[in-house]
Amino acid sequence: MVKREDVNTTYLGRKFVVPKEVHPPVTITLLQRSVLKEVKNSDRVLDMGTGSGVNAILAASKSSNIIALDVNPFAVRCARKNAKLNGVSSRIKFLESDLFKNVDDKFDLIVFDPPFRWFKPRDVRERATADENFRTMRKFFKQVKKYLAEDGRVLICYGTIGDMNHFKYVLKKGKFTVKVLNKRELIRGKRKLLYYSYKLTLRSAEKPRTELRKILSC
Ligand SMILES: C[S@@+](CC[C@H](N)C(=O)[O-])C[C@H]1O[C@@H](n2cnc3c(N)ncnc32)[C@H](O)[C@@H]1O
Repeated sequence: MVKREDVNTTYLGRKFVVPKEVHPPVTITLLQRSVLKEVKNSDRVLDMGTGSGVNAILAASKSSNIIALDVNPFAVRCARKNAKLNGVSSRIKFLESDLFKNVDDKFDLIVFDPPFRWFKPRDVRERATADENFRTMRKFFKQVKKYLAEDGRVLICYGTIGDMNHFKYVLKKGKFTVKVLNKRELIRGKRKLLYYSYKLTLRSAEKPRTELRKILSC
């Protein structure tokens, strides 16, 4: 049943019904377009922090082997319903999990649109935007390699509305090869905000670090 306060929207050609407890798909389609471009038919995909299910549902245009998880039980329920609405339920498994806690597999593609802010979330809905002391972000980067298949890729977005220096620090510490896939500028009042979507791959010992240095200086 669609409640009056639900957000009912069409996004990149897919339908979404999103209750107030769940982060709706954002107007800036940076990461989502990267997902559509990067996902391959043969990819095992993990949509970390699935929210409305948007990235899993987009990935299902190609892959049929997808796990979509969220720490927010309302999001897991919402994503499951949206997958059904878009006719892709059979391609996606849904899990409630704090990061990788309930995951026991390896993936070719891991997608994450993380919370950007460092403060303590006041409720489960705010876990979409707030991450106390960047616990989730740090833990994600500490654990993600264990869940990546050989030649696995991570798609992640971040922006100057968050703490860009901290983000660059965790990327550097993670020793990934980093590529900027997409960049978008938004004007909010007098502020100019920059958003990026990145592709991370595991850096083999002999790969040059030039690109990482270039990214980290932007
Ligand atoms: C910015 S929202 C992105 C939602 C969706 N992927 C999208 O692109 O619209 C971040 C999502 O990550 C989830 N999240 C936050 N911390 C998490 C954690 N520790 N484990 C799993 N999911 C988490 C939030 O509940 C939220 O749904």
